[in-house]
Order: sequence, then C-alpha cells, then structure tokens
Amino acid sequence: MRISILGAGNMAEVLGAKWAANGHDLMITGRSSEKAAALADRLNARTGSFAEAALHADAALIAVLYQGMEYTLERIGDGLRGKPIIDCNNPVEIEGFTLTTPPGESMAQQIAKATGGHVVKAFNLCHADVWRMPSIAFDGRPLTVPYCGDHPTALHATTRLIEDVGGVPLQTGDLRHAHYLEASAAIIIAQLFRGRPTRTVFNLVDDQTPATQ
Ligand SMILES: NC(=O)c1ccc[n+]([C@@H]2O[C@H](COP(=O)([O-])OP(=O)(O)OC[C@H]3O[C@@H](n4cnc5c(N)ncnc54)[C@H](OP(=O)(O)O)[C@@H]3O)[C@@H](O)[C@H]2O)c1
Repeated sequence: MRISILGAGNMAEVLGAKWAANGHDLMITGRSSEKAAALADRLNARTGSFAEAALHADAALIAVLYQGMEYTLERIGDGLRGKPIIDCNNPVEIEGFTLTTPPGESMAQQIAKATGGHVVKAFNLCHADVWRMPSIAFDGRPLTVPYCGDHPTALHATTRLIEDVGGVPLQTGDLRHAHYLEASAAIIIAQLFRGRPTRTVFNLVDDQTPATQ
C-alpha cells in the first residue's frame, strides 16, 4: 500500500517503521521539511509537501498535535478526497485532560469534513512506546485495537494496518464513535501524565482470549 504520513513525530516514526517493515511504500511530510526528510531517511521512505503526500497516498495517516491540525488540514488540498485517512490524533489538553473539541464533535469528523476523505479513528489509545513493542501483548494476550469509521474500503485498509503492527482490530462503530475513542484517550493520557509507565493500556479480554502466561 502507498501510505502517506502527515506529521513527522513519534507516532509517524513508530507506526511508519512497522508499516515499512511490512513492505508498504511510505511518503513522509510535516511542518518541518528537515525533520520529515530525516524521518523518511530512517524509514527508507520518500518525502514531499503535504499536497504531494496527499496525491501519493492509497491511504494516509494524519499524526500531528491537535494544535497543528488546522495548519495541516489547510495544506492538504483536495488530494485525500475519497481516500482512507487514519486519524490517531487526540484533541486532549494536558491541564485538566479534557477534550478540546466542541461537545459531541470529534476531531475525526472535523478531518473528514475538511478533507472529504474516508476517516477511520485508530491507534489513538496507546502511547507510542506500546506501538514500538516488537510483539504487542500484555499478560500473554495480544492488544485489542479499537477503530471506527464509515467506509468499507477505509475500514478494511485500517484492519490490515493494525494487524501489520501486531494488534487485533476491533471495530467499535461508525465515525460517530470516534468521539468515544477520543474521550477514552483522555483517561489514558491523564494516567500517563500522573506517572504510570508508558506501556499502560486498556485491553479487551475474555476467557477465550489466548494467554500464554
Ligand atoms: N505520542 C504518543 O504516544 C501518541 C499516542 C497516541 C496518539 N497520539 C496522537 O498522535 C498525534 C501525533 O503525536 P506525536 O507524539 O507523533 O506528536 P509530535 O511528535 O509531538 O509531533 C507530530 C507532528 O505534529 C507537528 N506539530 C506540532 N505542533 C504543531 C503546530 N502547532 N503546527 C503544525 N504542526 C505541528 C510536528 O511538527 P514539528 O516537528 O515541526 O514540531 C510533527 O510533525 C497527536 O495528535 C497525539 O495526540 C500520540
């Protein structure tokens, strides 16, 4: 898959590294072209402008801090219209750990509206250090990765990309459910800022879930 990653930070690096290892063709872009080029170099990927990255993509990951979302969306142009867009972003401020979006509205829906893309919310519930783990399992149980969206092709692409990083995909609903995934992230982020280890997760387990320990 040709994957464009918009944002050249932690999430771009950890997810990009696993996708590159699975044979995907990556293009990286970001506010700092130097940073994007350096990351592209490390991932054996290409780099380009936001508009070039949008055109390159079979699917895109947007991974920027919420403070940079408006800046990013303004630069994408029309290139992601009708394409799968994975949104891992958390509009959560770090004083009271509340959502910065208006009540009932998600960042995922804002991205869909601005780009015309088929947005899927995913990968937003764990610290980058979790995605970096060679095998993402806790107590011998694989990590469940909730995601939600409206479009079958975009959902299918996301499922594959979750499996490529070693997670077990769990569709939680349509894009209206992105709001709940973003709110759930606020709980985890607050825990991390209060000192819990970065590899802290919520998982979904039942008595059928394989455990090796
Ligand atoms: N890190 C995690 O553990 C984690 C986990 C789950 C979800 N997320 C979410 O994933 C997204 C990316 O996180 P990250 O850790 O990868 O972020 P990051 O490393 O801090 O930065 C990601 C990108 O955002 C850009 N950016 C930051 N502020 C900006 C601004 N004001 N205007 C324009 N661009 C700006 C950065 O550009 P510069 O390099 O030029 O600053 C960089 O390209 C966030 O929405 C975060 O909530 C993060």
